Amino acid sequence: MGELKSTATEHLTFDAGQDKAFGRDLSKCRHDFADSGLFTDEKLAALIDQYPREYYMITTTTESGGALEWHNGDFNGASGAFVLKAVREGRLWLCLRRLDLVAPEYEALVNEAFDEIEAGNPKFSSSRRTSSLLISSPGARVLYHADIPMVALWHVRGRKRFWLYDADNKKHLPDEVLEGVVLRESEEEIGYDPAWDADAKIIDLNPGDAVSWTQNAPHRVDNLDGLNVSITTDYFTPAAQRKYGVYFTNGLFRRLLGAQPKSTATEGLGALAKCGAAFAMKKLGLNRIKERDMLQSFLLDPKRPGGTVQLDRQDWRPILQA
Ligand SMILES: [Fe+2]
Repeated sequence: MGELKSTATEHLTFDAGQDKAFGRDLSKCRHDFADSGLFTDEKLAALIDQYPREYYMITTTTESGGALEWHNGDFNGASGAFVLKAVREGRLWLCLRRLDLVAPEYEALVNEAFDEIEAGNPKFSSSRRTSSLLISSPGARVLYHADIPMVALWHVRGRKRFWLYDADNKKHLPDEVLEGVVLRESEEEIGYDPAWDADAKIIDLNPGDAVSWTQNAPHRVDNLDGLNVSITTDYFTPAAQRKYGVYFTNGLFRRLLGAQPKSTATEGLGALAKCGAAFAMKKLGLNRIKERDMLQSFLLDPKRPGGTVQLDRQDWRPILQA
């Protein structure tokens, strides 16, 4: 057997075999996004200054009844430099969405990386890519959750510990729970038991590391140190699109018709029919029955970088998102 070699493109370096795993399985590589100069404090502050309200989310977690809960907030008129200081000193998670619309120079880095991966692997194709810039506090955490599409995380600054759980373990992620995620009923609220950490893969991310993993595989993230800056890219492959359609349709059948769907096969005619049904039901808006509302419950405290002003529950307002 010939020995597998590592591969390097203009912007990416893969260890042996990792380039072919991208888009299907756990895959790691190195990237050079920081060389663009776009991730300095000055550049990030300038970007935050011009970010439209409908495309950013700033969140924090608070303890409630022994569990951590996500809360959404608002910059409260603060400058980009202040927001960056608040994230560095507080426990905050800032997500700047839709880089394609608001910050195409950042989106271009992702597009070049995907072009290089697709050029090196004719079996890989991606569609519906959307990228966000994540800026988070040294001690911030992302709770156990599953994402709907495939995801690639391009880590640029700080250090993170990424915990990845088996996508096919129905105890960690029962079908009904995954359907709820796909239907956008739940995201962060899916069940988690620390005992599952024993079976998790631990991936420490240093600046310049990128990782992508199996679709819907549950994961959580602990920031280890430093201001953490990454780009996260959602994408679909043809197989990921089929799996989405199957779970979307099974979920609606279960909820609207009380059916107990058994097949989660993503190949074959049944799966194709379900994808068609998913498309039709989405158009009819049937999945909007239980979609979550995003409410604003805190403001950044202009006097204390990293501090927050909690709003009374009657003052929580829906956050404008596009
Ligand atoms: Fe995620």
